[in-house]
Amino acid sequence: MKVAVIGARGRMGATVCEAVSKAEDMELVAMLDAGDEISVQSLAGAEVAVEFTLPSASLANTLALLEAGANVVVGTTGWDEFSLQAAATKAKDVGKSVLIAPNFGLSAVLLMSFARQAARYFESAEIIEFHHPHKVDAPSGTALTTAREIAAARAAAGLGEGPDATESDPLGARGAVVEGVHVHAIRARGLNAHEEVIFGNPGEQLVIRQDSFDRTSFMPGVLLAVRNVGKRPGLTYGLGALLDLD
Ligand SMILES: NC(=O)c1ccc[n+]([C@@H]2O[C@H](COP(=O)([O-])OP(=O)(O)OC[C@H]3O[C@@H](n4cnc5c(N)ncnc54)[C@H](O)[C@@H]3O)[C@@H](O)[C@H]2O)c1
Repeated sequence: MKVAVIGARGRMGATVCEAVSKAEDMELVAMLDAGDEISVQSLAGAEVAVEFTLPSASLANTLALLEAGANVVVGTTGWDEFSLQAAATKAKDVGKSVLIAPNFGLSAVLLMSFARQAARYFESAEIIEFHHPHKVDAPSGTALTTAREIAAARAAAGLGEGPDATESDPLGARGAVVEGVHVHAIRARGLNAHEEVIFGNPGEQLVIRQDSFDRTSFMPGVLLAVRNVGKRPGLTYGLGALLDLD
């Protein structure tokens, strides 16, 4: 399978180039970055293009890659509804596939799936996310998504708010509240990206935890997407669709 990488000089792009080069069933045929034109020629026969650039560049790149005849795997974050729709329409128009996943980490995707399954069985559910101190936003996008999915599963099961007698919390020690689910963010040197979901019932606790130690953690998910994107015409959102989870 011939693969192109867009954003190849970036941190994620360079890691993808290395992973594709090492994969026995793949050949890295094009490495493009800012300033390089996306065209049939520059893609050099790539069947799949992997895009890890900037939120401001990702939609235009994706449309150009589809137009040039490649199936596209996108890891760049920040996609809104409008952009997703535009990519879906273009993929349909040109008869190609695009897979967009805000998180290619298998452990994170599995954690969200397991948390969705467990949510309806427990009175209490809280999330702790742990990241390196360079991260500028809190809580993390993955923690937000996890909280929203737990909240939706609780609502569907008719569960109300979790038990909590706190009356006074002037310093915000109970964390952010996302649709009724408390989310706590830790920022500390030595960490990378980690998340813990704590479920509680009288006399029992379930803790689901995932740890992403470095960028290589995303590569099995990216390679899975590269191998499978062409089998799914149009737009696929999220890696879960390839993992047969739900
Ligand atoms: N989906 C996931 O699992 C996942 C994991 C990690 C990071 N990300 C996201 O991936 C993206 C890239 O992260 P990074 O750490 O590699 O960033 P980075 O800044 O290291 O790399 C971005 C690269 O894109 C290039 N670029 C900028 N504009 C371009 C354009 N118009 N065309 C082609 N290349 C262009 C830059 O020159 C740079 O080399 C971010 O949006 C980040 O949030 C997603």
